[in-house]
Amino acid sequence: MDKKKLKDESLLNHDDYQDQHGAVVPPLYQNSLFTFEDWDKIDKAFDNKADDFIYSRLLNPTVKVAEDKIAALCRGEKAKLCASGIAAITSAILHCVSAGDHIVTVRNIYGPTNTFIDKYLKTKFKITATYVDGREVEEFEQAIQENTTLIYLESPASLTLELQDLKAIAKIARAKGIKTVIDNTWASPIFQKPLTLGIDIEVHSASKYLGGHSDVVAGVIISDKKTMDAIITAEHELLGAKMAPFEGWLILRSLRTLPIRMKAIMENAFQVAAFLEQHPKVAKVNYPGLESFDQYALGQRQMTGYGGLLSFEVATQEIASIKKFVNALELFALGVSWGGHDSLVYAPVISYLKELSPDKFAAMGINASLIRISVGLEHTDDLTSDLEQALKHIE
Ligand SMILES: Cc1ncc(COP(=O)(O)O)c(C=O)c1O
Repeated sequence: MDKKKLKDESLLNHDDYQDQHGAVVPPLYQNSLFTFEDWDKIDKAFDNKADDFIYSRLLNPTVKVAEDKIAALCRGEKAKLCASGIAAITSAILHCVSAGDHIVTVRNIYGPTNTFIDKYLKTKFKITATYVDGREVEEFEQAIQENTTLIYLESPASLTLELQDLKAIAKIARAKGIKTVIDNTWASPIFQKPLTLGIDIEVHSASKYLGGHSDVVAGVIISDKKTMDAIITAEHELLGAKMAPFEGWLILRSLRTLPIRMKAIMENAFQVAAFLEQHPKVAKVNYPGLESFDQYALGQRQMTGYGGLLSFEVATQEIASIKKFVNALELFALGVSWGGHDSLVYAPVISYLKELSPDKFAAMGINASLIRISVGLEHTDDLTSDLEQALKHIE
């Protein structure tokens, strides 16, 4: 049997890992360093720093089992787990840019990614960025400058759920020697495999679906071996945002149920989205799986399924009324993050207006009436009842 051709479910649930006791789950290697029998052996290990066990900041056996699974799942050659999603994102971006370069990105990327590009890189390294809506491929072509070295994507975007045409954008970028990075957290590697569409580097907040139980903060970068070795021996090693072994063990545990969780979450999200779409107190639902979604056809082309994060606009911009709705929810807990077993609600207006000017907030195409929910694994009858009773507070 060619194990390289295993389907995702088999890949994630079959281990070739063998320890001396035949333990069915790879052990937790809770150690900082590895010792060597002699000078020649440690000398040789340093020749192969990214792949040999020397120090757990670079490579740890427990974390590596999870990394190898994620790399295979994403059809990449190598993966590196990091301390957080934002560590994975900033490492991948830093790998692609130098002082004075230019980035093309989309206007609705994850807030701290936006802050990193728009504030940190701009003030410290004079790196400029052009923000496009992202729905039309031509916008990317027009935004490219002489000094563009990176096109940074997030498809679907985690707030308004717009998509970008990954295959077409990757083709344009490759022809000009520009690197492409995508935050693929929303779809998860189960429903979207950007590396197979020509994207160079994929990143995830593994705090979401890859972790899936709201008990770990983590991130991961996936690409070809050459790119990954360069990132591992520079941004990863030098900035030090490594994953702890126990976190790696938790991610490995979670990966086994990723396909089945994503399937259940998608089914739930469809039902919740359909419920919201027909509700008179809801003005608009943003969910790429709905036929009414304006980029539905593109989603069908480049994804094989849909995540459980969606947003909708309630039929008022009156903060007092929106506040009452959010506070009335009993099953949807109020909090940031998403992608776990538990359903969550968040109103972007809470934090975005503290970090962005009202103009920039509006330029992102969002307003106070936008509510984001992460649909979890509860029963949809209960979730829709909860929404029904809380929506009574929208006046
Ligand atoms: C789309 C997206 N990307 C990246 C991140 C950052 O991940 P982390 O919180 O693991 O650093 C988040 C976090 O909410 C996110 O929603």
